Amino acid sequence: MTRHAGVSRRRGGPEAMSDWQIYRRLLSYVKPLWFMFALSLVGYVIYSAGNVLLADLLQFLLDSLNQSDKVDSGIISGIAYRYFDTGGLDRIEFARVAVPVAMVIMAATRATGFFLGNYCMNYVSRSLIHKLRCELFDKMLVAPSAYYDGQAQGALISKITFNVEQVSGAVTKALKTIVREGLTVLALASYLLYLNWRLCLVFAVVTPVIAVVVTFVGRHFRRYSRRIQASMGDVTQVSGESISGFKEIRIFGGQQQQHQRFRQASQYNRSQNLKLAFVEGLSTPVIQSLLALALATLVWFALGPDILGGFTAGSLVAFLTAATQLGKPIRQLSEVQSEIQRGLAAAEDIFAQLDQDTEIDRGTHVTPRARGELSLRHVAFTYPGARDQVLRDICLDIPAGNTVALVGRSGSGKTTLVQLLARFYQPGEGQILLDGVPLGNYQLANLRAQLAMVSQQVTLFHDTVRNNIAFGALADASDEAVRAAADAAYATNFIEALPQGFDTVLGDDGGGLSGGQRQRLAIARAILKDAPVLILDEATSALDNESEHHIQQALEHVMSGRTTIVIAHRLSTVERADSIVVMDAGAIVARGSHGQLLAQGGLYARLYHQQFAD
Ligand SMILES: Nc1ncnc2c1ncn2[C@@H]1O[C@H](COP(=O)(O)OP(=O)(O)O)[C@@H](O)[C@H]1O
Ligand SMILES: [Mg+2]
Repeated sequence: MTRHAGVSRRRGGPEAMSDWQIYRRLLSYVKPLWFMFALSLVGYVIYSAGNVLLADLLQFLLDSLNQSDKVDSGIISGIAYRYFDTGGLDRIEFARVAVPVAMVIMAATRATGFFLGNYCMNYVSRSLIHKLRCELFDKMLVAPSAYYDGQAQGALISKITFNVEQVSGAVTKALKTIVREGLTVLALASYLLYLNWRLCLVFAVVTPVIAVVVTFVGRHFRRYSRRIQASMGDVTQVSGESISGFKEIRIFGGQQQQHQRFRQASQYNRSQNLKLAFVEGLSTPVIQSLLALALATLVWFALGPDILGGFTAGSLVAFLTAATQLGKPIRQLSEVQSEIQRGLAAAEDIFAQLDQDTEIDRGTHVTPRARGELSLRHVAFTYPGARDQVLRDICLDIPAGNTVALVGRSGSGKTTLVQLLARFYQPGEGQILLDGVPLGNYQLANLRAQLAMVSQQVTLFHDTVRNNIAFGALADASDEAVRAAADAAYATNFIEALPQGFDTVLGDDGGGLSGGQRQRLAIARAILKDAPVLILDEATSALDNESEHHIQQALEHVMSGRTTIVIAHRLSTVERADSIVVMDAGAIVARGSHGQLLAQGGLYARLYHQQFAD
């Protein structure tokens, strides 16, 4: 669902990080890239030095035109007069050669500095994004199930796509501007101080005012940025749902509703972006006006008799040029605020994700291959954040190699029970043991290696049929083994009818396959895994009676010699299980063989007769 309108989604509480902590943590990512970072700093130093020298060059020019006595008092003119022979040329003629030459050299150095600074800074920032993005993705691979239960898929995707890019803004653009323009300000300011420090006092008055404006504006930027991020999550979510559910939308006439939801999310995004733009757009003219005021005051003082006397015409123009040049970098520095706040808001969110708990994996027990004896002792479970208990006091012993069927109405907790076996969740009370060892003592990967599962909702990957069967750790399986598994799952026929057979690339989540075909691929995958414990959660629910009958026969062969838990909707398919466990409202209400349970005449008999009547 979309959540919107005004809810600040700031992660409050004691774990909220201060700006400085976020900065420091971001910088720790930059550390390994220090060389490129330093190189880019060098580039920017060269670039900003060029800006100062521009004013200095002007001084050279004007003082030469005026035939001033102090023509060599500037930086460039000083160098020119000291190191190059004037060869009897007069001042203007010398300047005619020296100034263009200096201009060309300066332009070339500035260009080099610009390129070096920009490219290296981009290198740093793109590397940072890459690293953050991969860390975020890797985090998802080890996050506990509750992580996925608690967040919309779209919001999670948008963190990887949108939020990470926002950080890039803070690092590339902001860092670039801070370094480049900051250095320019420093260089210009030093130059101004060098020319006349008393005049510079004017700036000491406006600087604090600018600082106040910048801080005030920054706070707003952050708030809007958080909302923009959240709304991007909503935009992604609604688009994702509408893409995967386009058929439902058409059949149920959901266009209008989805249209509204999307508009709402996008509109919220727009309004927050506009608020950001409003504050951003307002802050620049305010700061510019402040600077103009300072400059006007400066000119007034500079033209006063007691100060004017200390200047040559050239140095006065140089002073005013440099002072005017201060405006642009200061404005850019204040504008970069929004970029920084965006980046910090995004980094805050990303770091909060990275700091989430991973799946608990403290066990050390490792078994090459379990026998498959399962034992549940007084297991109770409540979903994290939920109120009602989903499983209560479940006691169940399954000897190795046995087949147990779980039956019960939908919502009675069957799927939850098998999820606990794979440690997707931890039981709140009680214990589950595999071969007499508590599940928690196993290394997580080793425990899961003992299980093959066909879950209720089959997931297929955007890859070939072959790779979907030989998925993950099974990737090394031989073609013969893959084919044998497909045979056992009655999948070979339809696979071979696909355009490229086993090499056909499946569409998004197996698009283009029927529900039954998808299930058969999932069953083939489970068969190929050849694990000691096999869990079939309504694995044949989408199959027709005939295919189910065939698969049932094949599965019986597969089930022999391994512990199997079958959850089946059609009770005819569980009749031959070693034992049948009947669940109702999270508890086991009966157990026994098919014959015994029918004779008891309880829930099982009722469910059975209902289906028989169908
Ligand atoms: N991720 C979840 N978070 C909270 N409650 C859940 C979750 N998954 C299932 N439930 C609830 O747990 C109960 C049992 O669900 P489930 O184990 O899927 O039943 P069954 O497989 O027997 O149909 C249901 O009431 C369901 O609403
Ligand atoms: Mg279920």
